Amino acid sequence: MKTVLVTGGAGYIGSHTVLQLLEQNFSVVVLDNLVNASAESLRRVENITGKSVTFVQGDIRDTTVLDSVFSKHSIDAVIHFAGLKAVGESVEKPLEYYENNVYGTLTLCKAMRQHGVKNLVFSSSATVYGDPVSLPLHEKMATGQPTNPYGMSKLMVEHMLTDLHKSDDSWNIVLLRYFNPVGAHHSGQIGEDPNGIPNNLMPYISQVATGKLAQLSVFGDDYDTPDGTGVRDYIHVVDLANGHLKALDRLALNMGLDVYNLGTGQGYSVLEMIKAFEDASGQTINYKIAPRRSGDVAACYADPTLAAKELNWNAVKTLEDMCKDVWHWQSNNPMGYNG
Ligand code: NAD
Ligand code: UFG
Repeated sequence: MKTVLVTGGAGYIGSHTVLQLLEQNFSVVVLDNLVNASAESLRRVENITGKSVTFVQGDIRDTTVLDSVFSKHSIDAVIHFAGLKAVGESVEKPLEYYENNVYGTLTLCKAMRQHGVKNLVFSSSATVYGDPVSLPLHEKMATGQPTNPYGMSKLMVEHMLTDLHKSDDSWNIVLLRYFNPVGAHHSGQIGEDPNGIPNNLMPYISQVATGKLAQLSVFGDDYDTPDGTGVRDYIHVVDLANGHLKALDRLALNMGLDVYNLGTGQGYSVLEMIKAFEDASGQTINYKIAPRRSGDVAACYADPTLAAKELNWNAVKTLEDMCKDVWHWQSNNPMGYNG
């Protein structure tokens, strides 16, 4: 694998992955329509690495753009991050979510097939397990019933790609089920820059820490967990990005279709996250206990042993690393990339 097309490469996880690809001397083409990102992230990645990225501003649903990208560049593999990801918004706008995430992936795969590129890494999510029947979650467990169109779109794409591989086993596909990505590159130059009020815990906490937001609501303290608040498997985005490079190694072995959890195997509660962030940043987080958020599960964490065995991948960064790096990014860039 020499040249990699990264869809959604200007986004949060994409930019951290592009950085590592450049560090490992891959040629990288990014296709991103910037609906939820800024090209500034890639400029900073170029600054950090001293290497350049080919950036195409365009949409994965646009067959003309795809045709031009695959014609101009000799792509060996595609890492496919592009998609919409806000759970609440997906309930309001299901058609937009299915169109972007399902139709977008379908259009991308048709272009790949047409150009004979059959190596694909797909960003899936732990949400495909639905409400966990037992923990930790491992890949052999049946997928569940996602509670929102976003989650359903990920499950639909997993099924579509599985059928695609069944129909033509010259495809090599790795489905990566992410748990909860947090953190930022240690340079403090790139990180998560959500539009508007964040939906996710970590960016919310960090914006309370900078004073941009007044108070965090802890959604429920009556779950069946040690302190009553929700438990998740938070994974440093740099570890997560590294999992994609390992997935490329796997594609090169022509193993067909594989599914891996990318998580640490360790769950932390909302209150533990607040405490860890306070310790790492020296800030006090103003919070209140609020009602449960609909669609949330009590606890969710990975069994990451399959990725360790077959991808030779482990998460190595600690909760302290995650919090320190988020704070470094957020305090340097309180307004994100537009500051
Ligand atoms: P992100 O929004 O930062 O990145 C997604 C990128 O895709 C953005 O840069 C956006 O501009 C681009 N994009 C969206 N629709 C596009 C389209 N039609 N054509 C071209 N570009 C398009 O999100 P992220 O957190 O980096 O997530 C990356 C992927 O990982 C997504 O598929 C997401 O669903 C998945 N994922 C994320 C999480 C998480 O908590 N962050 C968890 C599980 C899975
Ligand atoms: N939480 C709060 N207050 C907030 C935000 C979140 O208490 O303001 C709590 C939630 O109730 C939950 C935990 O913090 O217990 C984590 O919530 P996030 O919104 O950060 O993450 P989720 O686990 O709900 O979902 C995330 C992504 C999904 C992805 C899933 C995979 O948003 O896209 O991880 O496990 F599918």
